[in-house]
Amino acid sequence: MKALVYHGPGQRSWDEVPDPTIQEPTDAIVRIDSSTICGTDLHILKGDVPEVKPGTILGHEAVGTITEIGSGVTTLEIGDRVLVSCITSCGRCRFCKEHRYGLCTGGGGWIFGHLIDGLQAEYARVPFADTSVYKVPDELSDEQVLFLADILPTAYEVGVLNGGVEPGDTVAVVGAGPIGLATIMTSKLYTPGRIVAIDLADSRLEQAREFGADVTINNGREDPVALVMELTGGLGADVAVEAVGLPETFELCTELVRPGGRVANVGVHGHPATLHLETLWIRDVTMTTGLVDTFTTPRLLKLIAESRLDATAFATHRFPLGETMSAYDTFAAAAETHALKVVLEAEPAVPAVVADDALVAVGA
Ligand SMILES: NC(=O)c1ccc[n+]([C@@H]2O[C@H](COP(=O)([O-])OP(=O)(O)OC[C@H]3O[C@@H](n4cnc5c(N)ncnc54)[C@H](O)[C@@H]3O)[C@@H](O)[C@H]2O)c1
Ligand SMILES: [Zn+2]
Ligand SMILES: [Zn+2]
Repeated sequence: MKALVYHGPGQRSWDEVPDPTIQEPTDAIVRIDSSTICGTDLHILKGDVPEVKPGTILGHEAVGTITEIGSGVTTLEIGDRVLVSCITSCGRCRFCKEHRYGLCTGGGGWIFGHLIDGLQAEYARVPFADTSVYKVPDELSDEQVLFLADILPTAYEVGVLNGGVEPGDTVAVVGAGPIGLATIMTSKLYTPGRIVAIDLADSRLEQAREFGADVTINNGREDPVALVMELTGGLGADVAVEAVGLPETFELCTELVRPGGRVANVGVHGHPATLHLETLWIRDVTMTTGLVDTFTTPRLLKLIAESRLDATAFATHRFPLGETMSAYDTFAAAAETHALKVVLEAEPAVPAVVADDALVAVGA
């Protein structure tokens, strides 16, 4: 099969590799129908995630069809259409029993395109299939559910739920990339009073308005703290969500938040940030960190099925799976291409009827 293989910092290629096979009874093999690229894949390519060994297939977000199951898989069948998400769950360890799958100590957690081969490929081996994939209702398209594989649960769990967004709150979202925009989208489930998006890029701020931000601030030109104070009677935001991953944006969140408010960090940080306890200690501020657990995926899937949530606007570009290399170029140049998520689409599987005809023809 073909797959996008990481060959060390700065190096990737679309290679012919061996088809995946069942290795454990709890494995399934999935034909990838749709996949996508994450900002984290770009971090890996920069060499920021050294646990990813050269030779690893990248990708941790996909919708696919089960083509093979191990002898221990009991709730899935060949032909099932499933969402394969960034987090795998062994279903048995202490953390999985607490629905904190991101912390799985039984071999799950974030493993695709990280510790094992990932999902930007024609096929993938999915460990702990029974407890890790989600069946996709027939009436939903791949694109309707694909972003449940990472950005939606991440923004919802680590941003909105950790931040404790409540009706009427002023929510400040720092960083309006896919994660910040998904935070805006899912915080609206709680009817905040006002959503303020802060970013350095005007194009991202425009997208933030389309996703539901009420106020946008370009912190390259404007003073975000002064503006948020003005909007909130001098108090600050009830909730500040960090969706960039830089020391300065984390520190900005701690300045934007009101006394008694909450800072929810979502960004992946590569450098230490200063925690200004000398000013924060007296302000009763709560701070949270987290890796997505994906425990809310079934809830988000229900909201999509019931038309309460529509994430299709994240799909700004589409490529055939075989053009994954160009898709990376487009995604990495988001400042020029305005890409949010690029969808990688496999050729439709050969319909059974055509296959039967072909067999008859061969037989005849
Ligand atoms: N915690 C988790 O489980 C989890 C999961 C997925 C992604 N993430 C992380 O979330 C973060 C956001 O992801 P993304 O895909 O949206 O990233 P992205 O790079 O697409 O978006 C980041 C946005 O921040 C803006 N920005 C950069 N510097 C800024 C600054 N100084 N002030 C204001 N805005 C600034 C950029 O213009 C961009 O719009 C990343 O750090 C990513 O690794 C965390
Ligand atoms: Zn990701
Ligand atoms: Zn586990």
